[in-house]
Amino acid sequence: MEIYCTRPNCQRPNNYFADLDDPQTLKTVQQKFCLSCGMPLILIGRYLPSRLLAKGGFGAAYLACDRYTPGLRECVVKQFQPTGLGPSQMQMAQSLFQREAEVLEKLGRHPQIPDLFAFFELPVSGRGSQPAEDFFYLVQEFINGKTLEEELEDKTQFQEKEILELLQELLPVLQFVHENGSIHRDIKPSNIMRHTHTNMTQTGNGLLYLLDFGAVKQVANVAAPTPSKATSIYTPFYAPPEQTHGNQVFPSSDLYALAVTCIVLLTGKAPNDLFDTSHNQWKWRPYVQISDRLALILDQILETSPQKRFQSAAEVLAALGQPHSNLGQPLNYSQPVPQSPPAPAPPAPAPAPSAPAPQKPPPQAANPAAPAPVRVKSPPPSFSIVRMLGGAAFTGFEGGLLAVALTSFLGTTLISGGFWLGLVAVLVYCQLQQWIERVDLVIIAGLTLVIIFFVPALQGGNPIQSILLLGVVSGLVLMTLSLVFRLIYGVLSQFL
Ligand SMILES: Nc1ncnc2c1ncn2[C@@H]1O[C@H](COP(=O)(O)OP(=O)(O)O)[C@@H](O)[C@H]1O
Ligand SMILES: [Mg+2]
Repeated sequence: MEIYCTRPNCQRPNNYFADLDDPQTLKTVQQKFCLSCGMPLILIGRYLPSRLLAKGGFGAAYLACDRYTPGLRECVVKQFQPTGLGPSQMQMAQSLFQREAEVLEKLGRHPQIPDLFAFFELPVSGRGSQPAEDFFYLVQEFINGKTLEEELEDKTQFQEKEILELLQELLPVLQFVHENGSIHRDIKPSNIMRHTHTNMTQTGNGLLYLLDFGAVKQVANVAAPTPSKATSIYTPFYAPPEQTHGNQVFPSSDLYALAVTCIVLLTGKAPNDLFDTSHNQWKWRPYVQISDRLALILDQILETSPQKRFQSAAEVLAALGQPHSNLGQPLNYSQPVPQSPPAPAPPAPAPAPSAPAPQKPPPQAANPAAPAPVRVKSPPPSFSIVRMLGGAAFTGFEGGLLAVALTSFLGTTLISGGFWLGLVAVLVYCQLQQWIERVDLVIIAGLTLVIIFFVPALQGGNPIQSILLLGVVSGLVLMTLSLVFRLIYGVLSQFL
């Protein structure tokens, strides 16, 4: 029997053990080790990888069998290898893996998402030139079929009817994912698989399956230099702008990637050939002849701004089901677009597909519980007025205190002015990068005040009450200014 070694850099991963051809030995043997690198081959004593299915930036997928099932059930073993982790990052990776496995187990209950059979961590001790390594594995239901990427290679283009069927089949799956507070984050043809139809030689239901949920890949990436890099699980061009910018993702982010998938399948072209980077918009219509209705729906899902898109899979399904009399009419799903970008909101059940033109709910945020462990700080979220005012109050208050402290030992000179400006700029930059936020701001402002209180040399001869008052007043002034600028921006953006 062949067993494939799952150590990523193993020189000769194919191992053959004649004794395992005997079913009794296969069931009872304790363990087998790679003849080349010494890696344990029977994963947690149960799963035997037989071949590599794919290798990606975050790990690898293997076809395997489960020796503790009567028919040696086939399964897929997905391996993630975090590298260069310190003990605290390793803990983060472990708790993230645990949480994502729980999410995948829940999602796997949907008939079109592979079941999660097992998940485990495998620490492997070093040997010779091989260092000790830690691996994470997921074991999933094997879907015998072809990915849509493979189907596209075979037929070069999909017909409108096939895309409509695909949408009808996959949108309810996305609806299920979103209603469970998750976001897939990496929808594309190679992550959608069609189970082979039942025929004389194959058994399968012919359904489309959604594979490769993105969040679990963060396990292999917790050592990324910035939180936004750690959460940057996406495929360029398929991922919408909010995702590539490291911002909050929404159900409509998945819808966007699904629409890119549709236009790639319809045109048979790579997504980068369909995106006009100079005008920042999709140019796919010239390559296909399809009904206006489907084209309009896809274009609306492909809007750059998440608010202008459909907000849920159910809305898209409802639009697809609109009566033919509405064909070519502008879709009435575009409620007036709110002027401020979306604020994260808890997931809310979306309207049923059969409901009449639904009100656009606010974009639903991904369950913050899912990717939270690797987000040391959450990625830059969408604009929030509270956040803006908090930042302005802090910057004004801190700026006032720093001005007193600096002038008290540098005097009112150009140097102290320049120094002050530099310090304020650093504070603003740190806030923009989210290195300091929320409670950090209060702590920093409080600490500065305490230092000035206890070091009279920093008070410039002013009573502490006046210093406090100066801080509060400059905080209020900056809050007011920010509000005014925000209002002007809001008014201008209505016209531009
Ligand atoms: N459950 C599965 N059943 C059958 N094939 C799978 C399954 N999961 C993954 N594959 C195959 O392995 C490939 C890579 O797996 P995927 O989960 O997409 O990981 P990645 O893209 O990160 O390498 C897929 O494109 C598909 O061909
Ligand atoms: Mg994939």
